[in-house]
Amino acid sequence: MKTSEPTSPRFYGRRKGRPLRRGMQALLSEMLPALRFDATRPLATQFGKASGRQADLALEIGFGGGEHLAGLAEANPAVNFIGAEPFVNGVASLLRHIQTGAVSNIRIWDDDVRLVLPALPDAGLSQVFIMFPDPWPKKRHAARRILQPEMMDILAQLIRPGGQLVLASDDPTAKGWLLQTAMSHRQFYWTARRPADWRQRPPHLPATRYMTKAEQASRQPSWFIFERRG
Ligand SMILES: C[S@@+](CC[C@H](N)C(=O)[O-])C[C@H]1O[C@@H](n2cnc3c(N)ncnc32)[C@H](O)[C@@H]1O
Repeated sequence: MKTSEPTSPRFYGRRKGRPLRRGMQALLSEMLPALRFDATRPLATQFGKASGRQADLALEIGFGGGEHLAGLAEANPAVNFIGAEPFVNGVASLLRHIQTGAVSNIRIWDDDVRLVLPALPDAGLSQVFIMFPDPWPKKRHAARRILQPEMMDILAQLIRPGGQLVLASDDPTAKGWLLQTAMSHRQFYWTARRPADWRQRPPHLPATRYMTKAEQASRQPSWFIFERRG
């Protein structure tokens, strides 16, 4: 007999890379339990000191090595951040950044972001970042790309009016896909006014590992900032 249990979305990326050195394993076992985002607990109880007031909440989807997320969190101590990343080596790398930067405003969802989105409050996010997502450039893999029309519907529900969806990529297919998918959603508009707005990294955004790799290989990254309509 068929059951009506909901099925988890299939994750096509890597969950593990090279074996972790002992120091990184220690970070996972010692730091992660306290910093793991708990989808069953009220949001306000999860962020230490900022929990008493209405701090902005931002989400980074696929933070990779975590340098962008840690940099943002350090520069914006009054904002709470959730980072989603199923790749354990990336999670360990973020923990190292958190430790060295003494950052306290990040909670980690070490799994597929699509599993945590239902736990987030409507209009509760001030910013969502999807930086250099896996491009899945082949047409037959288009359904694997993280930004889909259904994801845009969910983000429209979660990002508050005036909040931002920040996208970046260096891959030509992915750039076109990200732009087209976000521009097709009537609740968002692209804020760019001139080419420099997408060709140059906005000064308030830290570098990411994939951005640096792209620049070293002379591939031109683009940054697309969308705003949620009121
Ligand atoms: C190409 S890497 C970019 C990493 C980082 N943003 C950067 O710019 O260096 C894309 C990342 O997205 C993560 N990712 C892919 N699908 C995801 C999902 N459904 N939920 C959360 N993260 C995801 C992958 O594990 C990978 O680390």
